Amino acid sequence: MTFSLSFVLWLKILFLIGTGSAGYIKDKYPPSVLEDANLDMFGLTRKYHYPLEGHFVTTEDKYILRLFRLSHPKGRPVFLMHGLLDSSITWLINGPWGGLGYYLYDLGYDVWMGNARGNFYSRNHTAYNADTDKSFWSFSWHEIGFYDLPASIDYVLNKTGYDKLAYFGHSQGTTTFFVMASLRPEYNQKITLMSALAPVAYFKNNHSPLLPLLQNFVAVASNIVNEFLPRTDVLKVCMQSKSAEHNCLTYIYLLMGKDPNMWNTTMIPVYLSHAPSGCNFKQIKHYAQLVESGRFCQYDYGPTENQKRYKSTKPPEYPLKNIVAPVALYYAYNDYLTNYKDVIHLAKELPKVVENCLYPDKKWNHVSMVWGLHARELAHKHMIEMMRKF
Ligand SMILES: *[C@@H]1O[C@H](CO)[C@@H](O)[C@H](O)[C@H]1NC(C)=O
Ligand SMILES: *[C@@H]1O[C@H](CO)[C@@H](O)[C@H](O)[C@H]1NC(C)=O
Ligand SMILES: *[C@@H]1O[C@H](CO)[C@@H](O)[C@H](O)[C@H]1NC(C)=O
Repeated sequence: MTFSLSFVLWLKILFLIGTGSAGYIKDKYPPSVLEDANLDMFGLTRKYHYPLEGHFVTTEDKYILRLFRLSHPKGRPVFLMHGLLDSSITWLINGPWGGLGYYLYDLGYDVWMGNARGNFYSRNHTAYNADTDKSFWSFSWHEIGFYDLPASIDYVLNKTGYDKLAYFGHSQGTTTFFVMASLRPEYNQKITLMSALAPVAYFKNNHSPLLPLLQNFVAVASNIVNEFLPRTDVLKVCMQSKSAEHNCLTYIYLLMGKDPNMWNTTMIPVYLSHAPSGCNFKQIKHYAQLVESGRFCQYDYGPTENQKRYKSTKPPEYPLKNIVAPVALYYAYNDYLTNYKDVIHLAKELPKVVENCLYPDKKWNHVSMVWGLHARELAHKHMIEMMRKF
């Protein structure tokens, strides 16, 4: 109970306090790292001399999304989709020597990076204003899978003239893929290989100490705010002092799995500044429902509304049997958000698993295969080898 309260308090502080003393962070971290923490997609790629294009794509339900491209016009298109509270920058923040986006580009691929509705880069709609209209915030990850991914994929295929692309998703970027490929099965034909990094669908074996607390928090707070952890607040709060930083890292490890050696600790300000890129409360609520039900199913609106929407009092499960595109699974033992046993269960339900890779390092967690200090050597190389076969 005290723990739960302190967690809620911590989040409250996060929302209320904006700025603190800048001394701690400046003393501890090199200027180049602090610079990276303050740059956006364009700034970062300019700094490291990569040519970035920005594109807008409008979904069927009129959200305007930002797509970014490291352009190799003749290269095979690869589409990368970030996770919850994250954005396209996740593929670049480890720099040219570590980021998967840069790596694929260096190998000659035409790299496209998506942004889910509601995040820092995709707060736009033809009719609604994200800052003032509650109607903007009526989605969960269901809509991201059902609308955003198909629109983004069609846009990329149209621009490149290819009829298929390779897909990489991290965390929610896999959940949304499973939504799309199960409910809009025609999209399976547009995928050469789906590489699923820390795939999230089932929560039967989840033991994260934070998830139930987060559930409580969401229940209380979702009526007050729409957006969860919009960008920049976290860095300012976490970098006010050594103890603030320690507390933040403790919560982060509780959520993702503790592995302090997994990342380059000199770059922690960069992770903290970019990773919480905002999401809708309903996305978290929808995940919380899966934790409770143990099913991988659509959003639960309550029996009456469910009956209207789904013709059933319970929300329907996503028909995983429809996902006939080849899928490669990459996951880790120490991932508190997606338990490896749940991924093994998922693998049994997916019709075409062509790679089932549980990383041997017992400490690897939810993000080790994306941001890890050794991710390129130990994860990305193999993923790309697999991708080449399809
Ligand atoms: C929103 O989308 C419109 C139309 O594509 C674009 O002109 C505008 O710059 C976008 N606004 C933001 C804040 O991205
Ligand atoms: C792309 O879309 C435009 C406009 O809808 C269409 O005219 C064009 O033929 C498409 N190109 C390809 C390669 O599909
Ligand atoms: C960690 O990040 C810093 C700052 O970007 C960089 O100078 C250093 O080489 C990195 N260390 C490793 C082992 O990659």
